Amino acid sequence: MTITLDRHGSVAVLTIDNPPVNALKTSVRAQLYQLVEVLDADPEISAVVLRGAGKLFVGGADIGEFDRPPETPTLPDLILRVEAAVKPWVAAIHGHALGGGLEMALGCHYRVAALGAVMGLPEVNLGIIPGAGGTQRLPRLIGLEAAIPVIAERVMLDSDRALQLGLVDRIIEGPLTEGAVAFAARLSQTRPPAGTRPLSDPGPAFWEAASARVAKAAKGQSAPLAALHAVRHGVDHGCEAGLRQERETFLALKTTQESAALRYLFFAERAAPRPADLRDVTPRPIALVGVVGGGTMGSGIAAAFRNAGVPVILSEREAPALERGLATLRGLFYAAARRGHISEAEAAARMAGVTGCVGLEGLSSCDLVVEAVFEDLNVKRKVFADLGRLCRADAVLATNTSYIDPRQIALNLPAPERFIGLHFFSPAHVMKLLEVVPHPATSSEVLATAFQLARQMGKVPVRSDICEGFIGNRMLKRTRVETEALVRAGTPFAAIDAALRRFGFAMGPFEMQDMAGLDIAYMNREAARARGESVPEGPLDLLVRAGRKGIKTGGGWYDYAQGDRTPHPSEAAAAIIAPLVGAGAPLAEDQIVDRLIGALADEGRAILAEGIASSATDIDLVQIHGYGFPRTKGGPMFLTDRKAKA
Ligand code: 3HC
Ligand code: NAI
Repeated sequence: MTITLDRHGSVAVLTIDNPPVNALKTSVRAQLYQLVEVLDADPEISAVVLRGAGKLFVGGADIGEFDRPPETPTLPDLILRVEAAVKPWVAAIHGHALGGGLEMALGCHYRVAALGAVMGLPEVNLGIIPGAGGTQRLPRLIGLEAAIPVIAERVMLDSDRALQLGLVDRIIEGPLTEGAVAFAARLSQTRPPAGTRPLSDPGPAFWEAASARVAKAAKGQSAPLAALHAVRHGVDHGCEAGLRQERETFLALKTTQESAALRYLFFAERAAPRPADLRDVTPRPIALVGVVGGGTMGSGIAAAFRNAGVPVILSEREAPALERGLATLRGLFYAAARRGHISEAEAAARMAGVTGCVGLEGLSSCDLVVEAVFEDLNVKRKVFADLGRLCRADAVLATNTSYIDPRQIALNLPAPERFIGLHFFSPAHVMKLLEVVPHPATSSEVLATAFQLARQMGKVPVRSDICEGFIGNRMLKRTRVETEALVRAGTPFAAIDAALRRFGFAMGPFEMQDMAGLDIAYMNREAARARGESVPEGPLDLLVRAGRKGIKTGGGWYDYAQGDRTPHPSEAAAAIIAPLVGAGAPLAEDQIVDRLIGALADEGRAILAEGIASSATDIDLVQIHGYGFPRTKGGPMFLTDRKAKA
């Protein structure tokens, strides 16, 4: 049984025990439905407390059931039945009450909460809207102004705020069940129907402002506006019609590709930090991290560790560079405080957990050292030779190299089982992707440590075997080759940027190159040419040779006004690349997208076939979290797989 019934005098306590998150799967709903009938008919029972076992009340409907048609009793059926119960029901909320979990609590006649409980309707993250009354009952309980951000803008309410708003009737400071039972025992048999206050229409200006806000927070997803629409429908036509319309919208959205993609990512992101083969491996404790190099990546990596509460020692070659690195870190923490993400005191505490040192001697007591020095094999080898000598033999040593073969870097490193690639993405304290690149000698304990750290930092870790550019940059290279081929064949680069932006990327590949600087790719191309590889001259080479290296030089593919990142069409760039631009018919927008997604998926399949990535899902996670692939599309592998099955 996933529901247990205990009697505390005349109060029945129902406990939903369906680990890990007490999701309201079909059998849970069926048992609860039956129990409403049983308890209604039981003369010994005066009130009912509904609670969750473990660390939360209820995490929602069972998302794993969404690929199947709804099974009875549906959640709306169950909630209506609870609402109509002849005994008062009290939801006792601790941990989280999310989605269908909060809707279930809204169907109860009272709600009490433990301190620190969190309530929300995160359905829009899954491309759906609340489908069991959330869009109707919540506004009728706490008002439109407070409810809309929860329903359509992903806002969560803690128990204090929920009490202020009237979402919960009482906060229980001691043991929750006892407090809830005492609360329920004092209730009279008359039940106030929860959340059925009539709503008056606040007028067009209110709805316009709400639509604008919701659309802005929607990040290209369609569900948030649909959720707002459901709220408004209930205001215009009444609660019952609102519930019907909400359910229809929920069922329709559940079958969209957007929702399928977002659900796929929901499960993929939760599985990624816990690879099955490392489940039984104990990670090493990491209490102090050293970061070598305080440049772009080193400072971001140090911030990522500090944000996760780990003390950091930052090492640089000389004092001025160290000062610059520390100043960057300070800037990051205080910028977070200015934006209201953390308090000033927290910013100060994070900075206080950073110490600096010149040279590597100061890193000898670190449990992990991450190297982020120049992308130069000899420089990196020297760093690891020194670290190998200075650090404890059980200290984990990691490189953040983008392209250099980790086997070359670790050549001659004593105890190479502690060596691993940890490839962060820029800015390292923001980007979620972490490519974990084991060396052939890396121990499973060290690998497990990398995944444990990723969890601690809130990263999405993906294991990549060794190849040039690992998974992500190898695929990026393929995109570059493909876009260059399109330009040579006559499709304007600005049309490629526009097509990918409309597809959902925040910016197109050429805008991205301007932002990152064309010179890095140019130097790589020149280095390959110097090694005797055949790299035909491309438009990018011509632009860099003409001094157009991107935003930092005032222009690359596009022109830029000083201090402004808005790209403007450039006659100068057009003239420079003209000799290499073909005269063929330009591709249409959907052809451009098909071609580029097809190329990404093709490279992904090669990466899988070579065993570089463990799964197609991992490849999609790399694209989503490292390269701005739109979440609503699921990733190149997901998309092409769906297309093949359609
Ligand atoms: N259904 C099915 N499985 C779920 C689930 C759900 N609603 N929520 C979480 N899980 C699974 C996860 O996939 C994971 O499985 P795994 O261990 O096999 O990888 C496991 O539960 C634990 O999840 P987390 O790692 O996320 O656990 P945390 O303790 O970090 O977080 C949580 C718990 C805050 C509840 C978080 O899991 C969460 O946010 N869940 C989703 C909440 C949500 O979106 N609810 C709405 C669902 S849709 C709905 O209710 C429709 C309704 O309106 C009709
Ligand atoms: P950067 O040039 O901004 O910083 C490198 C820093 O290392 C400099 O501050 C330099 O003084 C310092 N340094 C050099 N030798 C040192 C030594 N022996 N001891 C201590 N400090 C030393 O370079 P960036 O961009 O931070 O790159 C660092 C590494 O990260 C490279 O391997 C790069 O390929 C990789 N990387 C870069 C990304 C990016 O977007 N910039 C993304 C992911 C990885």
